[in-house]
Amino acid sequence: MVNYKDLGLVNTREMFKKAMAGKYAIAAFNFNNMEQMQAIIQAAVECKSPVILQVSSGARKYANQTLLRYMAQGAVEYAKELGLHIPIALHLDHGDSFELCKSCIDMGFSSVMIDGSHLPYDENVALTKKVVEYAHQFDVTVEGELGVLAGVEDEVSAEHHTYTRPEEVEDFVKKTGVDSLAISIGTSHGANKFKPEQCTRNADGILVPPPLRFDILKEVEKRIPGFPIVLHGSSSVPQDKVAIINKYGGALKDAIGIPEEQLREAAKSAVCKINIDSDGRLAMTAAVREIFATKPAEFDPRKYLGPARESLKELYKHKLNNVLGSANTVE
Ligand code: G3H
Ligand code: 13P
Ligand code: ZN
Repeated sequence: MVNYKDLGLVNTREMFKKAMAGKYAIAAFNFNNMEQMQAIIQAAVECKSPVILQVSSGARKYANQTLLRYMAQGAVEYAKELGLHIPIALHLDHGDSFELCKSCIDMGFSSVMIDGSHLPYDENVALTKKVVEYAHQFDVTVEGELGVLAGVEDEVSAEHHTYTRPEEVEDFVKKTGVDSLAISIGTSHGANKFKPEQCTRNADGILVPPPLRFDILKEVEKRIPGFPIVLHGSSSVPQDKVAIINKYGGALKDAIGIPEEQLREAAKSAVCKINIDSDGRLAMTAAVREIFATKPAEFDPRKYLGPARESLKELYKHKLNNVLGSANTVE
């Protein structure tokens, strides 16, 4: 049994309180390996921003749960070594069972998501409440979810969004005791969030996706004022990265994300946490593909993973500065 406080990590309570008051959001960046962790910490330190290190169950399988735990512990020391003691949370992304959440809590996570969004409402309430009761004994914060995002999440996929029903949120928060709530307002996971036929074209011929359902967000805020809201599936799918990938042999088709201006708008509201994974994958892949294509004799992994890490850091700095608005909030 390890408590996250002994590892120098923090839960999300204070982060979200400050984010709500300061009208910004905290970035939750997924990580699976050392280069991603380094890029996240370097960006957060350089931007003087709190950050959430996010681990999916797929990441635990890929990298090994013990290694990830020690990497997060190392991340706290690494930030200090880089010169700033920023708040860092270690969060389980899309926990799908009580056992998985418990296992993460027991090994030092400071925050967990229990994703019961695919379950019938009462079962989602019961499962989320069980996780909250366990987590709160250790001052670990819990994120629940209401509404289903379209797209693929781990092994579960949904063809269409089931938008969050604002009339359910008050009851859910009251019955479960969750600390934050992920909602479905039109974001989705992955790099293909919209089909071209769902989009319109602007004057420059660029595809513009349908706007997020800010009306639902407002209605949710009205019913649970001041309660931290989370947006999953919030990658913007930078078209310059997609173009590099495709130029150097990639085959990404119809890759469309959430416009950054809309996420900036959301960050000023009760949205306190914004999840970004796919954009980082695109940044790393573009950098690696370019090097493989332009320097075919290169075979030292540091020579392609190093630039990939640099590109990832620049992307994250851009997010913290210009999208989330959390830069310069740590003294
Ligand atoms: O929501 C999903 C995250 O992007 C994590 O993806 O389950 O492939 O690690 P993953
Ligand atoms: P993206 O696929 O849009 O990056 O979303 C990531 C996410 O929501 C992780 O939980
Ligand atoms: Zn997600």
